[in-house]
Amino acid sequence: MKRMLSGIKPTGRLTLGNYIGAIRNFVAYQEDYDMYVFIANLHAITVPIERAELKQNTKDLIALYLACGLDPKKATIFLQSDLHEHAELGWILTCNSYVGELQRMTQYKDKTAKGETGITAGLFTYPSLMAADILLYDADYVPVGVDQKQHVELTRDLAERFNHRYGDTFTVPEPLVAKVGAKVYSLQDPRKKMSKSEDNPKGTIDLLDEPSVARKKIMSAVTDSIGIIQYDSEQQPGISNLLTILSSLNNEAIEDIVARYAGKGYGEFKKEVGECVYQFLTQLQSKYKEIIASGMVEKVITEGNDKARQIAHKKIMKVKKKVGFQLF
Ligand code: TYM
Repeated sequence: MKRMLSGIKPTGRLTLGNYIGAIRNFVAYQEDYDMYVFIANLHAITVPIERAELKQNTKDLIALYLACGLDPKKATIFLQSDLHEHAELGWILTCNSYVGELQRMTQYKDKTAKGETGITAGLFTYPSLMAADILLYDADYVPVGVDQKQHVELTRDLAERFNHRYGDTFTVPEPLVAKVGAKVYSLQDPRKKMSKSEDNPKGTIDLLDEPSVARKKIMSAVTDSIGIIQYDSEQQPGISNLLTILSSLNNEAIEDIVARYAGKGYGEFKKEVGECVYQFLTQLQSKYKEIIASGMVEKVITEGNDKARQIAHKKIMKVKKKVGFQLF
């Protein structure tokens, strides 16, 4: 069975973008792949974050993974910081990464281009740690949203470079980016990604938003004056984004939704999208509350960590030997 791995960083509350672009696919893929899903909390501290917030976000993320349908019997769910192998391999890969290629990574590039101050060295080497996450497990596939594809491509380069220098060690992974929903946009500025860190909360739907608040956000989403419901991300980014959201949550093809709305107005369409999001969040949050109350979060992570560690440990020992760290 082919292996698949992906992770999310607990820097803020999870968004509908994270669900549609990532978690929804993890849930589908767990049926057919040897699935590893983790919480990228080492990556979360590349930007400043309070301890209490990080802890809360991490617990919420595990509970939301489960509430969204990840099944610990099918998918191994683990916590990155509990496995020192990630930091160890991250360092070794950092020493095999060039400054120039890390400078080309868009997340770092965008922040420096905006003249942001206080960018940490950890943010700069973020992609080589991400490569370590993937290569430790010999993942064949890495399901991600569009924004992470570049990091997986760098991972491929690092794997090939390492294999070439030290002999065959790592599987070269492939990014898997879904056709629909790989980038969900802000409801207020539909040319920008919906993000955990967006300044305007009206643009982002958090998975733990009050469902009626989320419905209002959909009703006040920015659209256009064209008046036709169709998928055209250039001319109608707002409507196209709402089509993506509805199609992903309802499993209905975008063409079918467009056909249903021929000759109808934006108000009616937004009402359906709002209702769909409302229902989705209501059900999700009820499962989330049950999971938190059951105390199963700790058990899932302990068992997942143990399983992941068996693979990670073997791999790091092999790598250390190849590099010349193992003396006897
Ligand atoms: P993160 O936490 O920013 O996002 C987690 C996943 O959600 C996807 N995503 C989106 N998809 C569609 N529309 C959006 N608006 C949207 N926002 C986020 C992301 O593409 C991603 O798939 N570096 C990673 C975490 C990571 C990782 C890894 C992932 C660390 N190590 C190894 C895969 C493999 C990150 O920051 O994702």
